[in-house]
Amino acid sequence: MKKLLISSFVCALTMSGPAMANDVHPMCGETELAGIMGDMKDNMKAYKKAMKAGDTETMNVVAQDLLANIEKSDGLVPLQISDNKELTAAQQADFDQYQKGMAYLQESAEALSKATTDDERKAALSQIGKASKKGHKAFKMDCDD
Ligand code: HEM
Repeated sequence: MKKLLISSFVCALTMSGPAMANDVHPMCGETELAGIMGDMKDNMKAYKKAMKAGDTETMNVVAQDLLANIEKSDGLVPLQISDNKELTAAQQADFDQYQKGMAYLQESAEALSKATTDDERKAALSQIGKASKKGHKAFKMDCDD
């Protein structure tokens, strides 16, 4: 009886495995947008490093790179909304919201590029962090499931 219970438990486990696992999109983390996001992460790291070193020239260059990456991201549809360019009306509405999030990020990065004191820089960086957190919560697919 015990053996039967165990084997049916094991059986239930194996059978529920594939049904329970969330199917991850094959393009998760592999889209053009994901690539640019990775570059933006590098931009943020480079900016903070230059800020620590008091290297304003590098800060300015990196802030411009970040702005260029934001511009590119603005035209790309998050995988969570659609994996093709033909959008339904509902997907278009989501994409509009995504672009609003990108506009907020752009504003924050512009403030960063204009900042002349560390206090202004810190405020802009914190706003960028907020934009990113909000954008990811709403539109970033979780690739780990
Ligand atoms: C400077 C700010 C930001 C940084 C540093 C950043 C960084 C990242 C990183 C590292 C990833 C993972 C990429 C991968 O899987 O390899 C990612 C993904 C993503 N981020 Fe951002 N992010 C920022 C702002 C935003 C904002 C504001 C939004 C939305 C309005 C957004 C939307 C997304 C989406 C949708 C993905 C998934 C890509 C896809 O759909 O293919 N991010 N981001």
